[in-house]
Amino acid sequence: MKVSVQKYDPSKDDAPYMREFEVEYHDNMTVLEALVQINDNQEPLVFDYSCRGRTCGRCAMALNGQACLACVTLVSENGKNEVTPLPGFPIVRDLIVDKTKMTDRIASIMVRQRAYPLELEEVLAPVDAETYKKIDPLEHCARCGVCTASCPVVAEIGMKNYIGPAGMIAIGLRYYDPYDQGDRIVEAVQNGMYNCTQCGTCDMVCKALEIDHQSLYKDLRAAAQERGLAPKEA
Ligand code: FES
Repeated sequence: MKVSVQKYDPSKDDAPYMREFEVEYHDNMTVLEALVQINDNQEPLVFDYSCRGRTCGRCAMALNGQACLACVTLVSENGKNEVTPLPGFPIVRDLIVDKTKMTDRIASIMVRQRAYPLELEEVLAPVDAETYKKIDPLEHCARCGVCTASCPVVAEIGMKNYIGPAGMIAIGLRYYDPYDQGDRIVEAVQNGMYNCTQCGTCDMVCKALEIDHQSLYKDLRAAAQERGLAPKEA
């Protein structure tokens, strides 16, 4: 089976280029398994992974132009297998990209906002079942960036104008968080929530199957509407 991998070492290459490798195929072979085989037996490749099971988000890259998690995406025995870095992010080397423009924003959103410190009783107070049902799925987000890399709106207007699905998940987590006092609806609007066209691509590509992006957006938009923060119809 042939696998083409994009290579790039900025210390000596003018631009990224593709290298083709012959890989010994086995049933249900993943992109990650193919890369490990090449790296171990043929030529060093720079890529990242840890859990091998859609949890850590470190193996995000693209197969045939589609953003994916390499550990759960299958190669094709007889078809095209072109492995490139996660689209939309600066390349560091080979298949490693710099995701800090996304992760730094998510990290700042995730800081819990409180006007005063939590009392012990508040810390120990159980989260009610309905709230837990909203929060728990969002906690499966690995910040892999596959959704953001696949989002047609981010591709068109950039993360500056729409934070993208992974950022919206972070806002949602704090919106549902009973211990957070930040105004997460204003934050969602300011981060371009209404630029999302609700095309559903994020739900299609996300491997954290627990997450339902569309129902989160529905909740955030309903809350914005209630407060008069929705844009006026043209
Ligand atoms: S190796 Fe962790 S998500 Fe793929």
